Amino acid sequence: MTDVLHPTIRPRRLRGTPALRRMVAETRIHPAELVLPMFIREGASEPVPIASMPGVVQHSLDSFKAALHEAAEAGIGGVNLFGVPLEHDAIGSGATDPEGILNVATRIAREEVGDALVVQTDLCLDEFTDHGHCGVLAVDGSVDNDKTLVRYQEMAVAQATAGAELVAPSGMMDGQVAAIRSALDANGFENVGILAYSAKYASAFYGPFREAVDSQLKGDRRTYQQDPANRREGLREATLDLAEGADIVMVKPALSYLDVLSEVAAVSDVPVWAYQVSGEYAMLEAAAANGWIDRERAILETLTGIRRAGADAVLTYWAVEVAKELLPR
Ligand code: PBG
Repeated sequence: MTDVLHPTIRPRRLRGTPALRRMVAETRIHPAELVLPMFIREGASEPVPIASMPGVVQHSLDSFKAALHEAAEAGIGGVNLFGVPLEHDAIGSGATDPEGILNVATRIAREEVGDALVVQTDLCLDEFTDHGHCGVLAVDGSVDNDKTLVRYQEMAVAQATAGAELVAPSGMMDGQVAAIRSALDANGFENVGILAYSAKYASAFYGPFREAVDSQLKGDRRTYQQDPANRREGLREATLDLAEGADIVMVKPALSYLDVLSEVAAVSDVPVWAYQVSGEYAMLEAAAANGWIDRERAILETLTGIRRAGADAVLTYWAVEVAKELLPR
């Protein structure tokens, strides 16, 4: 007869010491699984702080180079680059100009740290358009899906030419992965991979990013990014991207979409990544700055949760700090 006051099954046994806990941990974070998003501002002579993302800057080319080397030394997996151009126009010309800031930064990254880090580029027009949308507009002001695909093809080729190893379409246009794949292949870039933002939701958590890239957007992106209410649709988007040839699929944001992440991970036959976005960063930094939360524990807990839900790698603004200072040895 079992004595209810003396259980024989005791899960606490495995929690008794740091060494035991360390040994039975089901999820670990390795620096190689962390990717640092970086902003490079055209014409900046000094790094420009981003007020809503304390600790994150818009880089000058010099500070960018230094940060690339720091990231390489920290042993993270890669960098994901965003350009902040001085000029914007209706079709986002700066995105396809070989001398556009993002393409310049990509060349520099490959030269400086190309052997140590995977160089990825944001493939989207919003940083370059004067209306701030991720695509080109039709006469009625709506975002024209199919005309945008042509611009994405040109952008993919420009980025691959500059040295991108993974292009990362983040605009949520229908058919973007297939269009980009065909343009890359037609131009001899069959070895350049596509990191597809597959299930990307229209999220309030991108707020600080808009400051980070000096976004020109008025209005919102709800006609192309997904409704936060929709789980099944997230799976559908990921499945479509897999069929179109995505090399990696991504869910974004991370913390509010762990269910989607876990379900995509269950069906995907390619790596599944997650993007811990600007608002997730800002929220935790703000709470920590107020002394309301243990900053370092909270950072690790969020990343562990994202990994546990199924992410093979995570884009996070804390990538270098985590790799250098926060991981248990
Ligand atoms: C679009 C893009 C955005 C982010 C990454 N790529 C902004 C948006 O979709 O509105 C957000 C990243 C973040 O918030 O950290 N180019």
